Amino acid sequence: MPHFKKPDEGSWTEHYPSLGTKPVSYADSISPEFYELERDAIFRRTWLNVGRVEQLRKKGSYFTRELQAARTSLVIVRGMDDKIRAFHNICRHRGNKLVWSDYPGEETSGVCRNFTCKYHGWRYELDGKLAFVQQEQEFFALDKADYPLAAVQCEVWEGFIFVNLDPANTTPVRDYLGKFGAGIEGYPFHKLTQVHKYRAEIRSNWKLFIDAFTEFYHAPVLHARQAVAEESVKLREYGYEAIAYEIDGPHGVVSSWGGMAPPKDLNMVKPIERVLRSGLFGPWEPPDIGLDQFPPGLNPARHKAWGLDSFLFFPNFMVLIWKPNWVLTYNYWPTSYNTHIFEGTCYFAPPRNARERIAQELAVVSFKEYGLQDANTLEATQSMLESATPVKTFPLNDQEILLRLLHVTAQRYVREYQQTKARAA
Ligand code: FES
Ligand SMILES: [Fe+2]
Repeated sequence: MPHFKKPDEGSWTEHYPSLGTKPVSYADSISPEFYELERDAIFRRTWLNVGRVEQLRKKGSYFTRELQAARTSLVIVRGMDDKIRAFHNICRHRGNKLVWSDYPGEETSGVCRNFTCKYHGWRYELDGKLAFVQQEQEFFALDKADYPLAAVQCEVWEGFIFVNLDPANTTPVRDYLGKFGAGIEGYPFHKLTQVHKYRAEIRSNWKLFIDAFTEFYHAPVLHARQAVAEESVKLREYGYEAIAYEIDGPHGVVSSWGGMAPPKDLNMVKPIERVLRSGLFGPWEPPDIGLDQFPPGLNPARHKAWGLDSFLFFPNFMVLIWKPNWVLTYNYWPTSYNTHIFEGTCYFAPPRNARERIAQELAVVSFKEYGLQDANTLEATQSMLESATPVKTFPLNDQEILLRLLHVTAQRYVREYQQTKARAA
């Protein structure tokens, strides 16, 4: 049963004794050594969301992902049999990167019938089989069957494509995503094909940005200027309290009210929002996406004022499902201990007219405004966490439960990985 806070039930955090309530060290966010461990312990062992099936519409559609954190580049492709597969992006002949366009370090996408290496022309089928070797007779008893592309586990859940770089990991992605994944299965993600994406290089540890997006109570303070002046004063006075927080294994959810879509009183929002009937919480009129009722995992508290649920699927994938029928996802890709690439993707039903399109765009740019304010703050936080101050631990409050979960979980994965390695040695 979800743990809904009731006056006699104590706090959210205390429902999960393994999290503790003590101040938390952020040594895990400023240490190059810890990051090196995270790469192997987390990013090479867990299921990672790398995209959506709509990015691979046709047979032969492919895209590459530069997963620095997981120490590899992947090519993800829809085969002639319509199956989606992932491969390490390396040619079996002499190790050239197989798929890239203008710059080898940049991601690319396209449609092809097979992959041909730019170096000596080895050619691979879309299922990874080696089909052609230049001057094959000059090799020494080379059997092409011995040199397929190196496959990576790849599974699709509700249209989201996941990879797992640990060959020993046999947990299907559906099981890995646990009850939160199961609870939103059946949501018509595939109908939200109007996609807007942001990508930003952020100078902070990847976990700090997740921290900023798994609690909302900073909003009335950090984002005060986004609201109209009077509203902003009220918001700050009342503060913010989520409807529910819940944890399942390494994953978490925060369920929030959504009073701004539409607002109770039009004076609460800016003129442009009044005119376009849209804002941060999305266009106010939900499009018809064939959803008679929400999947059971949404609005777990069955709250009247429910507005969105924000799921954190460990380690780096967040899915926000908003009441007015749209979805936002976040992916955080570390590039070093104090830098990462952030991807924010907004998914809407295709707009039927210019008005709907502009309403969606207002939601998208509002999200960007908030995101920029958050990102700015993160860089300021990272620089001070790394500085030579005596301040080393931080008191996380009850609504910072998912931050606590993230840091405790990352530290646990690293610890368990070290123990496994020590046993094997
Ligand atoms: S490295 Fe790819 S064909 Fe030689
Ligand atoms: Fe924020």
